[in-house]
Amino acid sequence: MTAVPAPAQPPSVYRLSPAEEQRLSGFFAAGKLPPALEQAIGEYMTKKVGRDWHDPVILERLRRAIVAQKDDYWKPAGKRSLQYTKAYSVLGYLAYHFPVYFMQTEHLLAMLARDGLLKKHMTVIDAGTGPGVVPLAIADFWSRLDGATADVFSLERSEEHIEAFLALRDRFVPKGGRVSIKPPVKADITLPESARMPQQADLVIFSNVVNELGDRTPEQRADLVMRFADRLAPDGTLLIVEPAEEATSTQLRLLSLALKKKGLTIHSPCSYIRGTNCTPDRCWSFVTAPPIRPTAAMEILASGNEPFRYVNTDIKYSYVVLRKDRKTREDYRVPHGSRALRLSQIRKHAERRVNIIAAKMSENLGDRQNLMFRICDGTADIPVYAVIPSFHITPQNDLVVSAPYGAILRFEGVLVRHNPKHNAYNVLVSRNTAITKAA
Ligand SMILES: C[S@@+](CC[C@H](N)C(=O)[O-])C[C@H]1O[C@@H](n2cnc3c(N)ncnc32)[C@H](O)[C@@H]1O
Repeated sequence: MTAVPAPAQPPSVYRLSPAEEQRLSGFFAAGKLPPALEQAIGEYMTKKVGRDWHDPVILERLRRAIVAQKDDYWKPAGKRSLQYTKAYSVLGYLAYHFPVYFMQTEHLLAMLARDGLLKKHMTVIDAGTGPGVVPLAIADFWSRLDGATADVFSLERSEEHIEAFLALRDRFVPKGGRVSIKPPVKADITLPESARMPQQADLVIFSNVVNELGDRTPEQRADLVMRFADRLAPDGTLLIVEPAEEATSTQLRLLSLALKKKGLTIHSPCSYIRGTNCTPDRCWSFVTAPPIRPTAAMEILASGNEPFRYVNTDIKYSYVVLRKDRKTREDYRVPHGSRALRLSQIRKHAERRVNIIAAKMSENLGDRQNLMFRICDGTADIPVYAVIPSFHITPQNDLVVSAPYGAILRFEGVLVRHNPKHNAYNVLVSRNTAITKAA
């Protein structure tokens, strides 16, 4: 048999070498904010408040800032007062949110690298950069690569964040290194034309910022994002990341579809295996990654009452990757004539055993006894979950548990059940179900 040549890669694509993969695995296994960055954050906090940040008075103010920020976050978008105009709101952000978002960005960069979406040299724009979470993560990620370089530009409206960003950059990122982090531009991202930015970028990122844009419809948000997409290179990548919380996550799916209607292609995580458009108004889908190790600041803040309020280690996020060139992560399509049930037809099959082909679109949403995974084939107008009691897990069906987020699976012999309480459908996986990779 003659070997089929691998599809040609554009020469600019940066492929990870085995040595780089190994370095990344070591970093993710440790799950730890780089010590130099943790130290830089501590030094900045001390400089900013004019006293050692371990001082009990300072710790109390930090705790109050963290609690206020979290309370604000749970309010509806239009009712939040998040402006980051006060020093402590940014210090609270550094102590509580920064470590998780930094590590989350590293996971996302690894994903882009493995999807072949990084280039040997990249121009990046980060919109709503805060204290430079994404640019600093890029500098750290690139430090584990042997030959890649990047110029990173960013926009931010809060002066307090910009000050923190510059202080962390100067302490953490080597001058003259392979990543050049430009000083953030003070600008409103709803008026991108007024900001001095490169005309063409290889990667544009919105990380945890779209949900802060107030009461805008998905179409209005899409218009705003498209103004940034105008600056995207023809083979560039747009990455939008939002917290996994239900309302923001669901909004992200609506925004993704609005962007698709405006001409961008959803590269991932959605796979449209039936070639249809989806109806994402109830699509709550997010990724989880192993928790990070708590930083020293989190541990000290948690040494008083209600320690759980100050430790933030879980990584859960929703993302979408969009392209202009129609590139998608998966090109699998359900073959014509397949007997797998379209999930749009699931209503007609309640209490019947069926075969389906669908992507796994969540980690376990149930508990240890009863595991539950969101699944999607792009056709359903009602959420569908694969449910499996732990004692039914066998080597023949354990892919529903072990396959990564986004994997396309073939389920043979699942029982359809309506869940009236949640107006959803469950497909019950039993020890008689066989699950294989479809793609
Ligand atoms: C939750 S923080 C996210 C920071 C960072 N991207 C991250 O992932 O950690 C949101 C940031 O977006 C900024 N932001 C919100 N609306 C903005 C706007 N209209 N123009 C510029 N920056 C904005 C806020 O000031 C804040 O720094």
